[in-house]
Amino acid sequence: MPNLITEELAFERLLAGGVVAVPTETVYGLACLAESADAVARVFKIKNRPSDNPLICHFHSVSQISAYVQPLSETEKILFDHFSPGPLSLLLRLNENSPLYPATRSGRTVVVRIPAHPVFLSLLKKINKPIAAPSANTSGRYSAVNTQMVLEDVGALTDGILEGGECVNGIESTIVEVSDKQVTILRPGVIGPDDLQDVLQSNEIDVPVRYGTTEQTTPGTKYKHYAPKTKIREITSPDQFSSDKRVVFISTDEYTSRIQNVHTLSLGSLQYPRQIASALYQTMFKLDQLHADEALIFLPEINNKHWQITIRNRLNKMLSSS
Ligand code: TXA
Ligand code: MG
Repeated sequence: MPNLITEELAFERLLAGGVVAVPTETVYGLACLAESADAVARVFKIKNRPSDNPLICHFHSVSQISAYVQPLSETEKILFDHFSPGPLSLLLRLNENSPLYPATRSGRTVVVRIPAHPVFLSLLKKINKPIAAPSANTSGRYSAVNTQMVLEDVGALTDGILEGGECVNGIESTIVEVSDKQVTILRPGVIGPDDLQDVLQSNEIDVPVRYGTTEQTTPGTKYKHYAPKTKIREITSPDQFSSDKRVVFISTDEYTSRIQNVHTLSLGSLQYPRQIASALYQTMFKLDQLHADEALIFLPEINNKHWQITIRNRLNKMLSSS
């Protein structure tokens, strides 16, 4: 595949102010030095990202993060120690005059994460500088979970793609904000409220974990997001689908298996909610490759509250018109 580069080249290009697509355990990221205004500007251009939407920053350790942000609270430390490296992102307050302002769009907060993917983590250690990396997709589109998806979208505009296989989670990190009173989930993702609550409880921290309200969310969530190129509509009952060769039916195994003689795409079985989340973006990619006129999606109720909320969150953004 053209554009694939080695870790050594990725290191050199990032350090020189380039933009490289990198693997993480959630989705691929479009990486650059967080402190470089020029490199950050290129990421915004490649993604066609609204300029008020700050970039998540990646680090190799809590001690590296600590140099850029105000002291972490006990609860933040406990959550980060437990879940990092991994798919938990924290919204933290920056130090005054932070060098991360290009990535945070001059905002006083930063979303940070220590990724668990061995290739990216090793790169972060070698570079030893914060790396801004939003998901490696054009703004509004589904995130890429393998190098082929990166290549079909923003890949050719980058200085290379670092191969790291399929992303094991296939859906983004959970972003949380911690206060004395509660832990707020700003974007639902791989880690659920029960996972967070268990860790808090076992450390005798008695604060509730809540999903944020519509106002308590990340700027990125106000835009249409995660959508395929193909027109997609939701139906609320599988019976609303009538066979049409140019229309693709997307649902879970339980419903796609009932339909014959048309293209169907399955998100997996309702028995495995986590896999439905993992399959979501790949399914949208497969849909786009079919060049159909339209897709209809029927998402049955998922018998797991966190995955229901997370998958619904992505689907609602995908189907929203703005
Ligand atoms: O799993 C992930 O988090 C992936 C991988 C590559 O790390 N990254 C990712 O980036 O999903 P992105 O840009 O697609 O989503 C990050 C979200 C956006 O909704 C953005 O608005 C929000 O984080 N965000 C970033 N910095 C923020 C800040 N300072 N305050 C509030 N929200 C912020
Ligand atoms: Mg994104």
